Amino acid sequence: MTTSIRSAALSLALLPFALLPLAQPATLPAQDSAPPVQITVDAAHPGAALNPAMFGIFFEDINFGADGGLYPELVKNRSFEFPEPLTGWHETMGISPKGIEASRGELGIHTDSPLNPSNPHYLHVRVYSPGYSFYNTGFRGMGIESGAEYRFSAYVRTTGPKSTRATIGAISVTITDDAGHEIGRGELKSFNSQWTRYETIIRATATSPHARLNLILDEPGQLDLDMVSLFPVDTFKHRPNGLRKDLVQLLADMHPGFLRFPGGCIVEGRLLATRYRWKNSIGDIAQRKTIINRWNDEFDYRPAPDYFQSFGLGFYEYFQLAEDIGAQPLPILNCGMACQFNSDETAALDQLDEYIKDALDLIEFANGPVTSPWGKIRAQLGHPEPFHLTMIGVGNEQWGPRYVERYKLFAAKLKTQHPEIRLVVAAGPAPSGEPFNSLWATWRDLHADIVDEHYYMAPDWFLTNTGRYDHYDRSGPKVFAGEYAAQTVGTTSSENRNNWKGAIAEAAFMTGLERNGDVVQMASYAPLLANVEAWQWKPDAIWFDNLHSYGTPNYYVQRVFASNVGTRIVPVAPQAESGLFTSATLDERSHELIVKAINNTPVTRPATLQLNGLNPTGTIRVTTLASADLNAENSFDHPTAVSPESSSLEVKSGTIPVQLLPYSVNVYRIPVR
Ligand code: AHR
Repeated sequence: MTTSIRSAALSLALLPFALLPLAQPATLPAQDSAPPVQITVDAAHPGAALNPAMFGIFFEDINFGADGGLYPELVKNRSFEFPEPLTGWHETMGISPKGIEASRGELGIHTDSPLNPSNPHYLHVRVYSPGYSFYNTGFRGMGIESGAEYRFSAYVRTTGPKSTRATIGAISVTITDDAGHEIGRGELKSFNSQWTRYETIIRATATSPHARLNLILDEPGQLDLDMVSLFPVDTFKHRPNGLRKDLVQLLADMHPGFLRFPGGCIVEGRLLATRYRWKNSIGDIAQRKTIINRWNDEFDYRPAPDYFQSFGLGFYEYFQLAEDIGAQPLPILNCGMACQFNSDETAALDQLDEYIKDALDLIEFANGPVTSPWGKIRAQLGHPEPFHLTMIGVGNEQWGPRYVERYKLFAAKLKTQHPEIRLVVAAGPAPSGEPFNSLWATWRDLHADIVDEHYYMAPDWFLTNTGRYDHYDRSGPKVFAGEYAAQTVGTTSSENRNNWKGAIAEAAFMTGLERNGDVVQMASYAPLLANVEAWQWKPDAIWFDNLHSYGTPNYYVQRVFASNVGTRIVPVAPQAESGLFTSATLDERSHELIVKAINNTPVTRPATLQLNGLNPTGTIRVTTLASADLNAENSFDHPTAVSPESSSLEVKSGTIPVQLLPYSVNVYRIPVR
């Protein structure tokens, strides 16, 4: 604790705690209500400052979170760069009365004179007789909504002998629903022998969760195609190459303080060759080189052989997203190490310059003037104003002496050239033991800025570790709880649930993060997104299919906390006792005292908020997130079964009676003007 909190705690000790009830038994007797409890808030002695933006978002392209999720391209393998280059593409076989018809054409993958060197493969189509068609099945089908517009586009060139070039004058495009009924139609035409991009807008006439895109050629001849795309026109903020609206809205509604991107292990890659390289993720989407997604074959029980990264959602889009949802950007960069759980490949120290230069250039890309080389690129992409980058992660979930050696080289350059940028360093994959302890000792010695701790632990771990940071060194590095989630069955178990039991344990733990907000600068739940038909990892904050999405109880815990953080820590007692967990902050911006009380017991707890040094009058804004059933979950059918409810309470004094429902998260915003 800081000195101010210590002294505040001391002053608390002098308060009339004799009024507090005696400590309750660890397990409450089975009954419908419990004896009243007093929650004493030392409102007169606010302590250290905390980061009002401390609760943010961890984003990674796992569970089809980007391609097949937030990035709403509907065509899978639009650039034919998957190792099986026809993945996602199929010929339509006509059925004649005598059986399957002979094909009217053929598809091939060619590489001569490609669209560009980053996109070396393309589709070569030969049509023998009219009516030849083929289709793309999207990411487990395509989500199409009635009345919505979709931009179909492709690079096309005619090929073959001059005599045949002129014959293919058009491509008809249809969208068909699950039953094969046409629900949209368009056409591209007037091709020539040079790669040229064509587009048309298709308005859908019906909704389908598993539609497909058909390309139909009615004249014999040959064509080359690349970057075949079907993209919703209505993206978040109508941005071209923008993001899926419903998912971004869920993120924006969280009021996240920061956005960590692009991961996660995806930063590291299974091999260094498949690490995330931000420079390959910006500019013309046709130039962004597709590579394997690290989660493609990570888990035998959930193989995803069709999981690749198109980088359509790249660093420019991440920065733009952060800005759009009011979050500070926190990019995590590869430090010269591939995933240590996989290949453990490490770049030699004398090869690190490229990695460090990537970091320096990223700072210039985000913050540099438009006259600087990378600032100019940012401006050309449409954002002359800086993105206000203040932090960078060096490595993701690394550990060991090789990591520290590489960090030192990064820090030497970055701290000299950009002392304004705080560096986030890793504490390994687990929250205790080795390598956690030795890494922490090193970070203290090196005066690291922020240490990223990860905990994928059982709900009970969260409940019994709410005091984890009470005794952390206040003069050492700050903490970023960069990845955490209660694992209701076991870490990475496919049986894990996003149920209220896990979520309320996280809420209890987060009161400890908040009470120690002078040390814990940031925290983010992980992973964020999961496609219900293509996930690899459970639990996740938000689940979606091709058309719908919903926040889990865990999501709503994050949302309630991120939307209710003050600017100063206020002493509160009891902090963690008999299933009751509390925190309090003062919001100097809105002039409100914010008290959180989590009741993790099956009974209603009558409580009194005793505000020492404060006699508020007026209206308290109350948020309650509760379910008497610890197994409760949200679903597509009941997306808000466990979700916050707002109410208000009139107060006339600093003694405020409240009722804490069974298994509830309660937030009280009390005016202190
Ligand atoms: O969140 C899933 C994974 O867990 C992250 O990619 C990694 O950093 C951690 O091991």
